[in-house]
Amino acid sequence: MIIDQEYRDVLRTLSEGSVNRRFDPYLDIDWDSADYQIDPKDPRWILPDDCDPLGAHPWYQALPEERKIEIGLWRVANIQKVGLQFESVLIRGMMQYAMRLPNQTPEFRYCLHEMTEECNHIQMFQELVNRTGQDVPGMRADYRATSHFWHLGAYLPVIFFIGILAGEEPIDHFQKDVVRRGDDRPAALLRTMQIHIAEEARHISFAHRFLREHVKRQTKPGKAVTSIAYPVIMRWLAGAIMAPPRDMAKKFGIPRQVMREAFWSSPKSQEMMRNYFGDVRMLAEEIGLMNPASRAVWKKLGIDGEPSRYRGEPHRAARPAA
Ligand SMILES: [Fe+2]
Ligand SMILES: [Fe+2]
Repeated sequence: MIIDQEYRDVLRTLSEGSVNRRFDPYLDIDWDSADYQIDPKDPRWILPDDCDPLGAHPWYQALPEERKIEIGLWRVANIQKVGLQFESVLIRGMMQYAMRLPNQTPEFRYCLHEMTEECNHIQMFQELVNRTGQDVPGMRADYRATSHFWHLGAYLPVIFFIGILAGEEPIDHFQKDVVRRGDDRPAALLRTMQIHIAEEARHISFAHRFLREHVKRQTKPGKAVTSIAYPVIMRWLAGAIMAPPRDMAKKFGIPRQVMREAFWSSPKSQEMMRNYFGDVRMLAEEIGLMNPASRAVWKKLGIDGEPSRYRGEPHRAARPAA
């Protein structure tokens, strides 16, 4: 594959960024400091009502404070666990992709930087999970069982990188919402999220740039398939990442209907889901993946709406496109 100079430059800039601005989960987080101790009675574990679909549900809001804290702590720990499970799939697939690249391919160096960072993220999130003392499973059981094979998708690199973006975007979006709230959340949680957001900016830039580069080389039929696969993978993985496993409903006696509404049948939760994807809708428009058929799929899946005007734009009052 001929790689144009501009793409080489982007990859070099991203790689140098990984060398110059990086974090270590044990050097850069003072886990043992007083501020970072995890207090299971801390009311700051209560789920926010504006960026967590369960936190926004009236059933949760009507619970006594202690119960809200208990559920909040478990859910937060579980989200970290899901994140690290996803990162491990990413590493496995990306390694397969990178090791098939010929010598002198600039993507190779950047992919290895990204995997190094993801290894650090896994350690960072697992450390946080361990310190919460919650024995959380992470993804839903069926996803957990099949996720060992997801990395095989890397034999179709465009599809696999859509999957990478589908995981990274909702997590990043959610974390930015949490960090914007500042003091309302425990310090150890905020610190891990800040570190993650800083490094994830590079990963998301790369996934966007990778797709732009590779989709433009696809044949017409290949592009047509990609345009449909893109929203399907986005919706599927967002569900895998943001919705809790059944264990949670069982453990806390959360009624089935509440779970159904929170993930994702209530208008409020649907709006949250839609908001995860402003940036990926923008990318789809830019790289020619929006066509009448794919737009219909976006709409059917409930993730249509305005594209962001620039990457990372805080969401405007998102409304589904007419
Ligand atoms: Fe990560
Ligand atoms: Fe990442």
